[in-house]
Amino acid sequence: MELAWRIPIDCELREDTTKWAPPAGVVERSKAGYQFCRLVTLGTRVAGTRSLLLSPGPWAVTFLRRDGRVAFPSRSPELWACLVGGGHVAPEVVSSQPNLRNAPPTPANDSTAAKVAVIGQGYVGLPIAMRAVEVGFDVVGYERDNERVKRLQDGRSYVEDVSDATITAAHKSGRYRPTTDLADCSGFDVAVITVPTPLREGVPDLSYIEDATRELAPLVRPGSTVVLESTTYPGTTEELLAPILAAGSGMVPGRDFRLGYSPERIDPGNHTWDLHNTPKVVSGIDAASLTSVQEFYAALVESVVPVSSPKVAELVKLLENTFRHVNIALVNELAMFASDLDVDVWEAIDAASTKPFGFMMFTPGPGVGGHCLPVDPSYLSWKVKRALGASFRFVELANDVNDHMPDYVARRITALLNCDRKAVNGSRILVLGLTYKRNSGDARESPGPVLCDRLAALGAEVRAVDPHLADGKFPSAIARAELSAEELRAADVVVVATDHDAFDWDLVVGQARRVFDTRHRVARRPNVEYL
Ligand SMILES: NC(=O)c1ccc[n+]([C@@H]2O[C@H](COP(=O)([O-])OP(=O)(O)OC[C@H]3O[C@@H](n4cnc5c(N)ncnc54)[C@H](O)[C@@H]3O)[C@@H](O)[C@H]2O)c1
Repeated sequence: MELAWRIPIDCELREDTTKWAPPAGVVERSKAGYQFCRLVTLGTRVAGTRSLLLSPGPWAVTFLRRDGRVAFPSRSPELWACLVGGGHVAPEVVSSQPNLRNAPPTPANDSTAAKVAVIGQGYVGLPIAMRAVEVGFDVVGYERDNERVKRLQDGRSYVEDVSDATITAAHKSGRYRPTTDLADCSGFDVAVITVPTPLREGVPDLSYIEDATRELAPLVRPGSTVVLESTTYPGTTEELLAPILAAGSGMVPGRDFRLGYSPERIDPGNHTWDLHNTPKVVSGIDAASLTSVQEFYAALVESVVPVSSPKVAELVKLLENTFRHVNIALVNELAMFASDLDVDVWEAIDAASTKPFGFMMFTPGPGVGGHCLPVDPSYLSWKVKRALGASFRFVELANDVNDHMPDYVARRITALLNCDRKAVNGSRILVLGLTYKRNSGDARESPGPVLCDRLAALGAEVRAVDPHLADGKFPSAIARAELSAEELRAADVVVVATDHDAFDWDLVVGQARRVFDTRHRVARRPNVEYL
């Protein structure tokens, strides 16, 4: 049976257009005040009218309302079923429902903006929630942690890349609600899951994803879209999420609601590439899901990169981070050998990076940290081991090299003290920077605190400075210091573990007796030694 629906669209269609398929990101402003945020359709304009004739196929329509809010036509059940159904609504089902055939169905109901539930308001979830508010969605930020929700309700951010002003503006828009109450998510059109995926004794711990999915499942409605953003191994969306959502909702993923995966590529502290202008990889478990996920992200970011399946999208994220992890391990090992060979590895790296092709610069350091590099590659090697019984040797080698960097740095500090006829035991060592990267407030898995532990275990009196760590986040086992001339002069060695811009580097090299710089941040002086 041939299906076609006539959809009256309250906007002007270009006279010369018969088929609509504008590329992602194209925004058409209509005289009626609507904007086509994106229209992917097999629809044919009905000559002389403001109607589209839509036939079955993978298409979807997203509207922006006059006031900038996004209005999926989801609040109009007939139209939504019609729009999202495409080729996936069987003719029998369609014809059994009044209004769907014998068009025209009702136009998009624009009385309510589409509702987005972001599960987890952390480093990933909060920026997504803020961006979704900014482009016009109604956003619920569902978060388990009471403290975090209280701070968000007070307009106080705990994520460096999201300012207090952004949260306040989100509140002012009336379209952001941080909450610990799951019921606030009900009626969502799109849910984005951004919960942690740690390792527990070297094994992927997907319990946060499982819990969040189980909680969300009863709230899934026909036509809703669920997207996972947490980093995980290939197969998670289809093998873990889909069955939990099916069981909890009583519906079939793909047929009744949409499901996909889109890896987060956020780089905390990067002011050039942010959520908005970094291309976003998107996927769905079937064509309709892909379209829906793609439509959602097309409203948030400048460009989306569709891939053929969630497995591919899941692998993309692990590939990106494994690539980084392995290359950092390579320069770390090189730095150790170069030091023994008495060659300046930093100068070599700088010179190599003048090659305009075939080389990408990575720099050595005291180890890797954060939520991604120490964790993500192990998700991949675990999956390879489990599914294929094989060892992912590059990942294991990189883990080995990077994990031992704090020990290597401690050995170099020992050697440095030796030059002054001093033992580590009893020496005072000042460590600058404990977070895993410059200008970040994230000390998770960071090598700085590990280095402090190693030195303290050898008997050193270790003190550390990190202006980016609030008191609650500063490791309690380490004595906290402020950067001052007295503090620098009192140390036998000052170690640059993280090169925050906030540090006064002239003061550091001017006052410290000896500086061991693992980041090549300070100027070369007789009292400075580099990793
Ligand atoms: N931080 C990054 O730079 C980064 C970058 C890319 C990808 N990722 C990935 O994104 C995911 C999230 O990372 P993150 O850094 O945002 O973690 P995070 O710990 O900062 O935030 C996760 C939040 O989820 C909350 N949460 C946990 N279970 C919940 C539940 N059932 N319901 C509601 N809230 C829940 C936690 O309380 C926490 O606030 C991880 O898989 C991580 O690997 C992180």
